[in-house]
Amino acid sequence: MKLVIGCDHGALELKEAVKKVLAEFDDIQVEDMGTYTEASVDYPDIAEKVCGKITAGEADRGILLCGTGLGISIAANKVKGIRAALCHDVFSARMSREHNDANVLAMGGRVIGFGPAGEIVRTWVTTEFSHDERHQRRIDKMMALAEK
Ligand code: RB5
Repeated sequence: MKLVIGCDHGALELKEAVKKVLAEFDDIQVEDMGTYTEASVDYPDIAEKVCGKITAGEADRGILLCGTGLGISIAANKVKGIRAALCHDVFSARMSREHNDANVLAMGGRVIGFGPAGEIVRTWVTTEFSHDERHQRRIDKMMALAEK
């Protein structure tokens, strides 16, 4: 799996911790789209970069991090084709893959510790979409909302 990751200045340390977790997986190639310093940046710009890789077919999934995870997930969900899930617990992370086929995981660097975040990431990258007909139907309806 090709995975792109990005953060704003509110989640620099969390991004490094998440990258360490992702390095546990031989079958995941990670591309870090920044930010790389503590200088203030605007989270929609990071969301646009990461989501653009996914919608261009250059990456399979993404992880986006900001202070709360809120702004960057809201921004990501404005990008057509993106289903970003803000998850601060393992159950939500699993459900976001099984039921919602989330292609972006968002978390907040000022919200969650590295340990729980690591478990969320491990769960999210290893959980597949259920391919259940009712979940696919709901996803299709959800994505069609962008056309209305
Ligand atoms: C940046 O200070 C902060 O607003 C951002 O990281 C995020 O929490 C926004 O939702």
